[in-house]
Amino acid sequence: MTFSSRPPQSVELQVERRPGTPALLQVDPDDPLQWAFETRRALRSAVVDHGAVLVRGLGLYDPILAGDVVRMLADDLMAEREAFAPRVPYTDRVYSTTRWPRGIPMCPHHELSYRDWFPASMMFVCLSPPVLGGATVLVDSSTVLTALPASLVKRCEREGWMLVRTYNGDVGPSWSDAFGIGDRHGVEDYCRAHSIEFEWRRGGQLRTRQRRPAVVRHPITGVRCWFNEIAYYSEWVFGPETAHELRDLLGPDGLPATTCFGDGTPIGWDLVSHIMQAYSANAVREPWQSGDLLVVDNIRTAHGRDPYTGPREVLAAMADQCTLAE
Ligand SMILES: [Fe+2]
Repeated sequence: MTFSSRPPQSVELQVERRPGTPALLQVDPDDPLQWAFETRRALRSAVVDHGAVLVRGLGLYDPILAGDVVRMLADDLMAEREAFAPRVPYTDRVYSTTRWPRGIPMCPHHELSYRDWFPASMMFVCLSPPVLGGATVLVDSSTVLTALPASLVKRCEREGWMLVRTYNGDVGPSWSDAFGIGDRHGVEDYCRAHSIEFEWRRGGQLRTRQRRPAVVRHPITGVRCWFNEIAYYSEWVFGPETAHELRDLLGPDGLPATTCFGDGTPIGWDLVSHIMQAYSANAVREPWQSGDLLVVDNIRTAHGRDPYTGPREVLAAMADQCTLAE
């Protein structure tokens, strides 16, 4: 690939801010890939400033071009590991969004915050918008911190949070699919290398526990952020009625995922509902248009999805893996 010039040292981006919507950058380039080459540094800086930027006018209707632009903007893209719901790969490390029932809202979350290595940013491209709804919901994680009960924040800050997964062979992926590893010893090595406790249970089931920080400082800005998936991976995220049904069906020990405080104390509906309210009260959104690109700072900004009708085709890429451990 060749480009017509060296990337300029500074590019001025005219980012628009309107209440209730993410920062918007309107562009009209002849060549989206050349634009990405010239603008990547300025765009990444704008994403740090605003938490997320929606770029409109690139005309990314084709998954190959979309993948090339995303790869140009990122330092690297992550392959999917430890996933819950399957994604369809479009091109190398560019996937469909997570499969999730279209009529049910997807709770805001920070992608792979349960892993020791997670994406610093998420990139989404809308190939085809839904008929109604389906916006990618964004929530500023420092605002969420101030909206939550102080006692909850304090405890989470002190103890962190824990994700408990049970690969029950029925609901959720198999352990070999989730880890991309076919043998037990390989999975054990992976868990040891990535700070995951594991135990093998009757019938070959695997249970894992991973404890992670729930409140972190942004590595660039130093801003304190609510950074976890306590609500998203709790059975309570579907409401109390469904949570009770799931527990009756699978047993409290058989849930494919549940979330706890860092000391292993379960987190119930009372706290999950607080978190969901904090997300809902502070969410911003902009209806997708075909060809849009959305770049999200994965630590500063949680992302979710509104319910929708009609087909919806949005690509997702996990960019620039980073860790809090360094
Ligand atoms: Fe996500």
